[in-house]
Amino acid sequence: EKGNFRHFMAKEMHEQPEVVAHTLAHYLDMANETVQLPELPFDFARLERVSIAACGTAYYAGLVAKYWFERFARLPVEIDVASEFRYREAPLPANGLSIVISQSGETADTLASLRYARQEGQHLLAVVNVPTSTIAREADVVLPTLAGPEIGVASTKAFTCQLATLAALAVAAGRARGALSTEEERSLVHALVEVPRLMNEALSLGGDIEHLARSFAKTQDVLYLGRGTSFPLALEGALKLKEISYIHAEGYAAGELKHGPIALIDEKMPVVVIAPHDAVFEKTMSNMQEVAARGGRIILLTDTSGAQKASLETEATLVLPDMHPLVAPLVYAIPIQLLAYHTAVVMGTDVDQPRNLAKSVTVE
Ligand code: M6R
Repeated sequence: EKGNFRHFMAKEMHEQPEVVAHTLAHYLDMANETVQLPELPFDFARLERVSIAACGTAYYAGLVAKYWFERFARLPVEIDVASEFRYREAPLPANGLSIVISQSGETADTLASLRYARQEGQHLLAVVNVPTSTIAREADVVLPTLAGPEIGVASTKAFTCQLATLAALAVAAGRARGALSTEEERSLVHALVEVPRLMNEALSLGGDIEHLARSFAKTQDVLYLGRGTSFPLALEGALKLKEISYIHAEGYAAGELKHGPIALIDEKMPVVVIAPHDAVFEKTMSNMQEVAARGGRIILLTDTSGAQKASLETEATLVLPDMHPLVAPLVYAIPIQLLAYHTAVVMGTDVDQPRNLAKSVTVE
């Protein structure tokens, strides 16, 4: 049931503070500010490498997690879209962990990747939203995302619950590998506990975003830029927009701008710059400068500190509260979803059931 919402997607976006809190409560010991995962059939301290395979939005959750595993656990990660992973016959290390991520747990390519990894003798961990799914059944260990049923074809709450689960897993890996001190673990867990409140603040940008969507609905192309964990967010923003509004959009690592996409900049195409005030903020700002110098239309998504430091004129600046860099992807996902949603509503498309798409892709 949609309740008071016009679409399932709207309902599911607004459920995020609650379902993410639920998912986090499952993996964290809030009182002691530590992670608490179910017992794992492998030892993170002895793992050589992680390989991740998933499709679409679940793949972008995996891309974010790669940054986390490398930073917080000093654990090397390779990641592929499942349709490539399953056929490229990658050699996998003797003591390797394979992670697959899927809302439905039935995506054909993701399932085939899991089976390939089994053949290669990997430990198999699945982050899945549907607990009775094939992928959940075939993995050695399942970390459920507690998003509840997701009806809208565009994935929203499943994505942020995947991020919550993977963040807890990365912190657990960091602890097991001795890469994080007790103090560091505590501050990361503390940051995660803040997420539902931050998500509510992000949802309150809805009115401003609705306004912005009116001009978005008139454009042909949109470019999304970000660095670090904001790079997968840029990819996710572009996917969400094209899926439900049918407007062409591309996500790029901001540093790639001058290697091609800068040629697209004109006074018509909006450029969404995702830039929390983190370690790569200044670098992203200089890319934004390059866009501004060519008369580009800039929509800046940042935080209070970032908004103070950004000296350029933008068409719009959406400001979130300052937050720990670990949790930025979970919170920044919301304005990105809202922008796609409101644009699609202005365009009058079928938001929950966009053309040509299925909720679960069970054939390759
Ligand atoms: O069920 P899964 O998470 O395995 O699905 C993967 C993709 O098909 C899915 O995320 C798709 O990209 C969504 N429609 C994105 O909104």
